[in-house]
Amino acid sequence: MTQAQADLPPIETLFNPHSEEYMTDPVPGCLALLKRGRLVWYEPWQAWIMTNMKDIMQCWKEEYLSSDFYDWEFAPQRPPEDQWSNFERAMIGHSLLADHDHHRLVRRVTAPAFSRNVVDKIQERIEPDVKKLFDDLGQPESFDYITEIAQHIPFISITRMVGIPEKYWPDIRKVILTFTETWNPTISDERREAARQDSNRAIDIIREVIAERRAEPQQDDFLSTLLRIEADNPEFEEWDIVTLILALVGAGADTTLVAQQWSVYSLLKHPEQAEAALATPEAFSNAFSEINRWGVSSKMGFARYAPADMEVLGHQVRKGQMILMMPHLKDYDSDYYPEPETFDVARKFDPDVLFGYGPRYCIGAALAKRQLYLTLTELFKRFPNVSLAEEPARDETDHNAIVFKQLRLKTNL
Ligand code: HEM
Repeated sequence: MTQAQADLPPIETLFNPHSEEYMTDPVPGCLALLKRGRLVWYEPWQAWIMTNMKDIMQCWKEEYLSSDFYDWEFAPQRPPEDQWSNFERAMIGHSLLADHDHHRLVRRVTAPAFSRNVVDKIQERIEPDVKKLFDDLGQPESFDYITEIAQHIPFISITRMVGIPEKYWPDIRKVILTFTETWNPTISDERREAARQDSNRAIDIIREVIAERRAEPQQDDFLSTLLRIEADNPEFEEWDIVTLILALVGAGADTTLVAQQWSVYSLLKHPEQAEAALATPEAFSNAFSEINRWGVSSKMGFARYAPADMEVLGHQVRKGQMILMMPHLKDYDSDYYPEPETFDVARKFDPDVLFGYGPRYCIGAALAKRQLYLTLTELFKRFPNVSLAEEPARDETDHNAIVFKQLRLKTNL
């Protein structure tokens, strides 16, 4: 470390995603971290942070770090197989969390289940649910977009996508949304353990649904497709299906709930751009990247773990240490984006890494964008003059993202 580097204030005094300042304006903290170096030790999380876009893309592409939560130094002990609970069975060695070869096999064999026409079919299935939410809402003078609409959408679309029957919805809803907390380094051990117990219960329910579907196969849902894939591929088995569904719910619920809030907020802050943003699904796809860039809602990053003692970007990293990739730190850096303060739904993104890059590119990208497009077009169709009723207060209890306590809209009918 040079003297100039040693004289800098500790990074946690400049970058603290759980502080009031960050929630109000995350940009100064993100830029300070970005400028601190390519790999920065972040004491409060006992983790390294990878800040630089080129390095992150290389890490995504080459996968030289592990994605397996059990490789983390603070993960619970990997118990012997005869003591595995559902959680370990799903998290060790299966599907998306498995070694690279098995992960690639899973992505390859399941790709048809995420193809364009399957997304079209899912959209057809979700559309009546979205319309019903707006029907039930009626024509109030004002309403909270989060409780009335946004909160229901991710869950509806993933359960519809997978084909989890409605009778299971109340039970699974209670236990599934905490899944991402099982590996969150910023919360207490007790809270992580509670999330692990929830996941055990969620897996019981998923296995019940699988057993039911085996007895009565259907043609057109994702679960039936996965069961057909299982029949044709001996290396792909029931626990792969369980993990995959868990990953879909885990990766698809929080992300889209945040995305719903920021999409509505950004477009209502820039109403003159709403029409262009929603002109076509493709236009929205680009607008959505701008919504995410402009909002900088992320507090965390994408976790990886050092598989051995190794040198990473000039630093000695110990086996098991967490490395968080944070691509959003660049979002207000004028080297990446000219006039970063300006919101422009036609801004060009090249490369566009909002949904990741390389072998672990987001499985749900098409679904997420369609589901948002569907909901937002419905919102503007029902309430063409909709506006923000007030500037929404930020919710300090969310550990992953900057979100709102409420998002009150005026319908101006
Ligand atoms: C706004 C919405 C979303 C964003 C911004 C987003 C972004 C991402 C990113 C950046 C990754 C790579 C993570 C990493 O490298 O560690 C990822 C992976 C993933 N996403 Fe999404 N996602 C979204 C919605 C969804 C939805 C709706 C689903 C499911 C229906 C989903 C399922 C997944 C899965 C399963 C993975 C892991 C893929 C793998 O490891 O092979 N995501 N997502």
